[in-house]
Order: sequence, then structure tokens, then C-alpha cells
Amino acid sequence: PVPTPETRDVPQQILDILGEKDTFKPSEEFPTLSQVEIKAALDRLGSRSMVEYEQITADAVVLEKEGQSIVDEGSPEYKVWDAIRSKGRMGVKDVAGAVGGDTAKFGQGTAMKNRWIKKDGNDLVIAEKDVEDKTRHLLQSAQQTGNVADSKVLADLKKRKLVKVEKRISYTVKKGPKYAKEMPVEVTDLTADMLSSGSWQTANFKPYNFNALGANQTPGALHPLNKVREEFRKIFFNQGFVEMPTSRYVDSGFWNFDALFVPQQHPARDMQDTFFISDPPKADRPRDDPAAEAAMNAMEEGSRKLYAEPTPRKTTRRDYEKYWDNVREVHEKGAFGSTGYRYTWSEDESLRLVLRTHTTAVSTWCLHRLAEDPRPARYFSIDRVFRNETVDATHLAEFHQVEGVIADFGLTLGGLMKFLEDFFGKLGLTGLRFKPAYNPYTEPSMEIFGFHAGLDKWVEIGNSGMFRPEMLEPMGLPKDMRVYGFGLSLERPTMIRYKVSNIRDLLGHKVDLKFVEEQPAVRLDKN
Ligand code: PHE
Repeated sequence: PVPTPETRDVPQQILDILGEKDTFKPSEEFPTLSQVEIKAALDRLGSRSMVEYEQITADAVVLEKEGQSIVDEGSPEYKVWDAIRSKGRMGVKDVAGAVGGDTAKFGQGTAMKNRWIKKDGNDLVIAEKDVEDKTRHLLQSAQQTGNVADSKVLADLKKRKLVKVEKRISYTVKKGPKYAKEMPVEVTDLTADMLSSGSWQTANFKPYNFNALGANQTPGALHPLNKVREEFRKIFFNQGFVEMPTSRYVDSGFWNFDALFVPQQHPARDMQDTFFISDPPKADRPRDDPAAEAAMNAMEEGSRKLYAEPTPRKTTRRDYEKYWDNVREVHEKGAFGSTGYRYTWSEDESLRLVLRTHTTAVSTWCLHRLAEDPRPARYFSIDRVFRNETVDATHLAEFHQVEGVIADFGLTLGGLMKFLEDFFGKLGLTGLRFKPAYNPYTEPSMEIFGFHAGLDKWVEIGNSGMFRPEMLEPMGLPKDMRVYGFGLSLERPTMIRYKVSNIRDLLGHKVDLKFVEEQPAVRLDKN
């Protein structure tokens, strides 16, 4: 079968034509093919020395829209002449009605100048029985040849915006030293058989194409939240923090609230704010858990390495029963110098299971462990928390908390402020402001504000404080030990960094994976 441009076996077609003539221009033989396709075929043959080709760059006359419409329908002067001819005579206004206002305007003058039409009273009549539409024929030939021989005529056509001149790349091709009538079969793999038979010596190997770009890759991509999370982790690790084990999304009211001295009537414990778990209906009282123990031991080991105490303190046995009773007592009657809340503390309320509302539940658990062997320690975590919120552009029912805890002797509030300034400074946020706030578990408490240059206003970026004795002393931590705590959302800085205005674009089932894929791997700009 004769190959056609449609079959797209362009290399073979080129070989076929070269079988008949020594040289030719592919763009003339294959007018429907793009230069890119022609070039690809020439490269393929050229790299095998089957053809040789040369590139020619030349000016080509190309029709503008107006020029094309003259080729299709005739020139304005011809249309005017033709309209008058078909009617015998016409009023000036009728011409515009027949051929259109613009055509009439341009065409009438030229037709007059060419003496194709003339005035007869108030009407127009033809002056010539037969006319040649020269403009149309000129443009037709320009289109076919890409050329207008007379430079004056070309300049005129350009001025009338009927044609323009563009650079055109084309090729001339001739036989190469290895020309053959057909593309030879090419061997792509060297086999053991070819080696043992020796046929490799005469085999026609397909040349490597070192210019091929290869297929597109579809690599994995880190989610922006993960990237910012890594940034925070590095800052923490660089400052001697160890990571707390945060794998428990479900915890008891005891660890999430009571141990933090959050009263059982506190609005945060309302159904409106906390998700409660109905199955299983109840948690065990605080106790050892082998799986959690392993994670906790690993963290403790890391922490000990960083904070080896020169003079070991007295260690106490972990006593959950005592802790439980202490927490009850500090709520109900007051203890450790506190007057407490003076209400009847409910064990059932404390054992209700909740989706943790903050990672401070984990910090509490780790601080209770620290009380066995009280020593300076720095703990952090970055993980998910849950709140029964009305979902909107900036709130979801779940988000990630970045949390840090520092335990030491002789800590002061000023030290916390300095620490936070250094910490946020590493993220490029300087000049913090602190606002007194309230948390049931810290006193004093401070909200942290940073100036957002983009929004041109102060925005809350975190919450912090010094844990209350009512929280620390029931655990058995010494009276002179102070503990800083602070927390912030991971989403807020990520949204600012990645210019995301709707949190649902960042987290949840509506996240567009394309968005995740297309985020830059690293951002060098701060804020
Ligand atoms: N738990 C607080 C919150 O959810 C953050 C915090 C942690 C505050 C530790 C003080 C101390 O916003």
C-alpha cells in the first residue's frame, strides 16, 4: 500500500521519494505535516546516515484574516461590481445593504478607480462587462507559493493588512551514504545467542538516542503540612527536645482534662466542644500499658542522654492509684496548698473516652513519667487533635498541634518569653507580643501574637504558660520544679507559608492531589 501522510510513516515515505529523485523539500511533498514531524523523521534517518539534510530559513508571505476572506469570497471591489451587475443598477445605499457597510465603503472607491463602475444620475451602474479580480488572484498565488514577486505590490498588501511576512524553516533532503529503499530491521538488545554465534559482528544495532527526554515521571510528593512539620521537628531537635509518643488519638477524660486540673463542668468538656466515644463505653483507670511503655522508654532514653543529671535525685515508683487519688483530691477538696474547686468529682466522667482535644494530654502523661525520676527535660510533639467545631474556611474538626514542654528547676516567666522569641525567630517571626490569657492548667498563661506583614495585622500564633502546681504536684513532681508549656497549630503557619486561604484545601477529603504535587519542595521565603 502507498503510504499517505495519514499513515504517518514519514521516514519510509522520505526513502520512497528519494528512490525517485535525488533531492526534494519535504514541506512541499507533505504539506499537511508539521515541521516538527518532518524534523523527527529526518533526524531518525539522518542519525543512521540514510539521508543528509539541510535547514533553510526563508521569508514566507502569509495571509492575514482579511486576506484569507478575500481568497475565499472575492475582494470588496469585486463584490460591489458583482452586486451592481446582477441588479443592472443600484442606489448607493442599496449597495451597502447588499454587500455590507464595510465592504461597500472600501469596495466602491476601488471599483470606481478601476473604472469597473460609474455614476448614472443618483445610481451606480457597471462600466465593464467582464472584470478580473486581480487582488484575489494575487492573494491566491501568494498563499500557494508563499511569495509575492513584486516588492511594491507586497508592501501595498502589507500596508492593507492583507498579508504579513514570517520566517519559515524548511528542509532539503538527499540520499546519505547508507541510503536504502527501506528502514533496515534494527537490533535493540544484545543477546547471549548473538555473542556465541558471532552474529553481533554484522548485526544492525539501533543507535542510542542521547537526546531523548524520556517518559514523564509521576513521583510522590510530601504534603505541605508534612514539610512544615519537618521544619518544626528540626528546630526542636536542634534545641535538645525529644519527641513524645503521640499515637493515641483516643484517651480518657482523666488524661485529657482531669489530670490537667480542668474542672468536670468546664465548657471545653461539653458535647459541643469534645467528641466522646461511645464504644467502648468506658476507659480503664490509668495503668501501665506494655505497647505504650515501649514508646515511652525510647523517648526517656533519648532524653536521659541529653540531660544526664550530675547528681541523681531520688526516684519514686510509678503509682497510678496514688496519682488518681491526688487528682480527685485536688479537684474536690484542694491539696498541695490549693483550695481546689470544691465539687463532687465523678469517676465516671473521668473515665469517659474522648478524641483528644489537645496534645497536652500526651505532655501530661510524659510529665507523670518524669515524676519517677525528676530531672530537666525537653519534650515536643506534632500530631492530630480533634474538636467539635463548626467547620468553615479556617476551622476543621481536626487539626495538628505543635506542642513543647520544658521542665527544669528555677524557671521563670521571662525565660519562657525569651525561649518563645528564639523559637519563633527560627521560623522568621520576630517581635512577638504576649497577652495574658487563661488556661485551667497554666498560671500565668499567655497568648502569643506575631505581626503578619502580608495581612498587616497582629495574629494569634500560639498559647503558652507555666503549668499549675495543681497539675504537677499530684504527679509527684518536686515543688521546686517548674514546667513551661506552649502549643500552636501546624495549619496556621502552613497556610501562611503556602498561601492557602481555605483550610479545606489543605486537609480533609477535598484536598486536590495536584495541589500537593505542585507545591515547591522547599520554600526559601520566610513567613
Ligand atoms: N493546650 C493548649 C491549646 O490547646 C496549648 C498549651 C499547651 C497551652 C501547653 C499551655 C501549655 O491551645
